[in-house]
Amino acid sequence: MSKPKGKRAGRPAKSKKLAVVSGDKAVKPGPQVYANSSHALPPDFDLSDEFRAAFDRIEKTREHLFLTGEAGTGKTTFLKYFRQNTKKKYVVLAPTGIAAIHIGGQTLHSFFNFPLMLIRADDIRVLKRHERLFAALELVIVDEASMMRADLLDAMDQSLRLNKGNMLMPFGGVQMVLIGDMHQLPPVVSRELTDHYPRMYDSRYFFSSRAFRAVDFKYFSFTKIYRQKGRAFTALLNKIRMNQIDARDLAELNSRVDKSCDDYEDCIILTPTNAQAKAINEARLSKLASPVFEYPAMIQGAFDAGSYPNEVNLQLKVGAQVLMIKNDAEKRWVNGSIGEVIGLTEDQVRVRIGQEVYEVDPVSWEKVKYTYDEESNNITEEVTGVYEQYPMKLAWAITIHKSQGLTFDRLILDIGQGAFESGQTYVALSRCRDFDQLYLKKPISFRDIRLDKKIKDFHGDRVEHSEERDTGQADSVERIAFSDQ
Ligand SMILES: Nc1ncnc2c1ncn2[C@@H]1O[C@H](COP(=O)(O)OP(=O)(O)OP(=O)(O)O)[C@@H](O)[C@H]1O
Ligand SMILES: [Mg+2]
Repeated sequence: MSKPKGKRAGRPAKSKKLAVVSGDKAVKPGPQVYANSSHALPPDFDLSDEFRAAFDRIEKTREHLFLTGEAGTGKTTFLKYFRQNTKKKYVVLAPTGIAAIHIGGQTLHSFFNFPLMLIRADDIRVLKRHERLFAALELVIVDEASMMRADLLDAMDQSLRLNKGNMLMPFGGVQMVLIGDMHQLPPVVSRELTDHYPRMYDSRYFFSSRAFRAVDFKYFSFTKIYRQKGRAFTALLNKIRMNQIDARDLAELNSRVDKSCDDYEDCIILTPTNAQAKAINEARLSKLASPVFEYPAMIQGAFDAGSYPNEVNLQLKVGAQVLMIKNDAEKRWVNGSIGEVIGLTEDQVRVRIGQEVYEVDPVSWEKVKYTYDEESNNITEEVTGVYEQYPMKLAWAITIHKSQGLTFDRLILDIGQGAFESGQTYVALSRCRDFDQLYLKKPISFRDIRLDKKIKDFHGDRVEHSEERDTGQADSVERIAFSDQ
């Protein structure tokens, strides 16, 4: 039966040392080359005209592209499709560790060996061990580009010139595809940098970099929203995204205020701050009378603490609400499914998701590094670290920042002391598939809906929004906007 509270009752650390499961195939831990199989397309994947056009644009030209679109238009899904079908030699990178793990790529910092602080000229070096990789590299793709700081894009430009041995060409002649939605969360600028940044750049966003301004980046915008189905909801979300809501829209949104939403099942609470989410989770966990179980993660190779995808010591109790944080290889749940822990032993975790009960196994996340494989004359992913843990987090509440990129069926937004970042309320609300499954703990006010003027200025009229959606034009390829038109 259950262990008493406080006693360590996790899996023995020696278990599963030799084989690590990745998606549906077993791989040996430690550095090796493998084909990433954990990034499957959704079962109902729709290869839209927009997806085809974007694919051709990247595959058949060498243009630099900013691929954008509202939340849920399938940007990350397109990236998965692209990887499965391209013949180009590419790497997929992301500005944060969690985002990199999410797409099975590497962080910008680790790929280019940049320091975590501001990057200066002498931080950009010839990366000898990557010599052949750089020689072959044709394309760099960055997801979650809204979170990429300006100095990072400049540093990438310089590093690619140096390492491609092509100092005169922007990005050393490598094609750049930046994917993201600037109306979502911005880059985090550390306290140390906050004072200096305005002296160096107009803004923290990548579009303020010298490299972006020097090059003719084309724009490509996905317009069909897959995450939400209802047109009224997508229209309201778009007004919030563009900071164009009026009192009537706000009243419509606040019709979802529900004082008793705390009691609802299978809902995740989103909060602006970490402290607020932690307090909610701890309070809820301590209310449960059942004993606590602790499951230690198994970490092998190089896996820096900043990009751990889950708790090192995961504490669970029967009755705890959890968020599944990885798509299941057998398609029983997806990243973002909410469940309830209904049974725990030392090496068994049973979770109810919807009406079904599953026995959940630990899964692995790989930290990858790109290398050049001489034999195949190709760029390959090398697994340098493996992190194994149950794919779930205590999840009565999580921060809006953590929710970026996720999808939820039912959610409660507790805006607490208020939103403090551009795009924060939009990210929170746009995680939910359905307006009727969205609950507000407190009313949203105009000051919670923030849009940095710099973003507005950047977009100008180049990247259009979705007013036509209500007239059924959502799929129209003509609405793809390019900077040269
Ligand atoms: N072409 C598609 N066919 C079917 N489902 C799709 C398609 N594209 C996206 N989806 C589904 O829509 C949801 C949102 O997709 P995705 O996360 O790729 O959007 P996104 O544009 O990256 O969103 P965000 O801006 O929030 O990161 C997911 O549940 C995904 O499976
Ligand atoms: Mg995405």
